Amino acid sequence: MARGARGSRHLSPRRADGPLVVTGATGTVGAPVVRALVAAGADVRAAVRPGGPAVPPGPAEEVPFDWQDEATWRPAFAGAHSVFVVRPPQLGRPRTHMLPALAAAREAGVRHLVLLSLQGAEGNRVVPHATLERWMRGSGVPWTFVRPSFFMQNLTGTHRDEIRDLSTLVVPAGSGRTALVDALDVADVAAAALLDPTEHAGRAWTPTGPEALTYDEVAAVLSAELGREIRYARPGLLRYARHARASGMPWGMVAVTSGIYTVARLGRAGGLTDDVRRLTGRSPRDLRHFVARERAAWSTAGRTTGSSGATMDP
Ligand SMILES: NC(=O)c1ccc[n+]([C@@H]2O[C@H](COP(=O)([O-])OP(=O)(O)OC[C@H]3O[C@@H](n4cnc5c(N)ncnc54)[C@H](OP(=O)(O)O)[C@@H]3O)[C@@H](O)[C@H]2O)c1
Repeated sequence: MARGARGSRHLSPRRADGPLVVTGATGTVGAPVVRALVAAGADVRAAVRPGGPAVPPGPAEEVPFDWQDEATWRPAFAGAHSVFVVRPPQLGRPRTHMLPALAAAREAGVRHLVLLSLQGAEGNRVVPHATLERWMRGSGVPWTFVRPSFFMQNLTGTHRDEIRDLSTLVVPAGSGRTALVDALDVADVAAAALLDPTEHAGRAWTPTGPEALTYDEVAAVLSAELGREIRYARPGLLRYARHARASGMPWGMVAVTSGIYTVARLGRAGGLTDDVRRLTGRSPRDLRHFVARERAAWSTAGRTTGSSGATMDP
């Protein structure tokens, strides 16, 4: 939860002594963080996995970086002021997968770590983000935690195919409410923290959307904006797991997402904060705005991959 009453409303760099390194720079949050920092005139170093998709050409310097390849760590962190730390979803064991690289960042003299964490991570010892937060608190390096609620982008990512092909949303969240947030708002909050380490060091922010919705309400927004009925299937955990596996989701992610949606089902994912407004000076984007903007993702005409092969009993 947020601490302190003041925030950085203006995205302009206060410190220019060394680049701001952005990991996960091709991802849902990292890519807009790079864009926001570049737009603010910061010295940005986009850390990208060798062999992965490139960051679109622009003024950000690009360096090869892999959490699991020690040879990439020192060059990526050399001379850097700050690092935006994104845990890739498939790296589930932060102690072995990420802490060695973070220790290398500390050795390189990095002066601010901004972690993309998770809403409620402070009270949930099971999630990998808790391990990263604990390490950072004890690291001696100033830190900021950005703990967002669920991303609206899950609807264009994990759940895209079932919405597009089956007109169904398959989430085991019962009638629990979720404070869905647009990842672009999360990126703006993270950028504000990166641009002003003095203001944000030692603070944790929880960017959420403007409203907490049940998935029946999410399906209603999708239906209204897409002009066809999208149904919320409301599966139990076993049915969800079967569906997710048929969609190609690895077992590890099925387990993690089941845990996350259980939190929602228990009514613990609906907490709203004012942190987006506090840090950016404007309201968080709402779901209607997101669905209108991303409408093409669920268009069968705009289909970029084949059907997921998943089925969901009515
Ligand atoms: N989804 C949600 O609702 C939600 C809510 C709160 C918090 N979070 C947290 O947000 C984090 C994920 O952020 P995101 O959605 O922006 O991620 P994302 O879109 O899945 O992108 C992952 C990024 O990590 C990079 N990556 C993958 N493996 C790597 C490796 N071995 N070394 C270096 N980089 C690697 C990817 O690069 P390539 O392009 O090369 O693959 C990509 O840039 C997770 O920790 C998740 O728990 C998610």
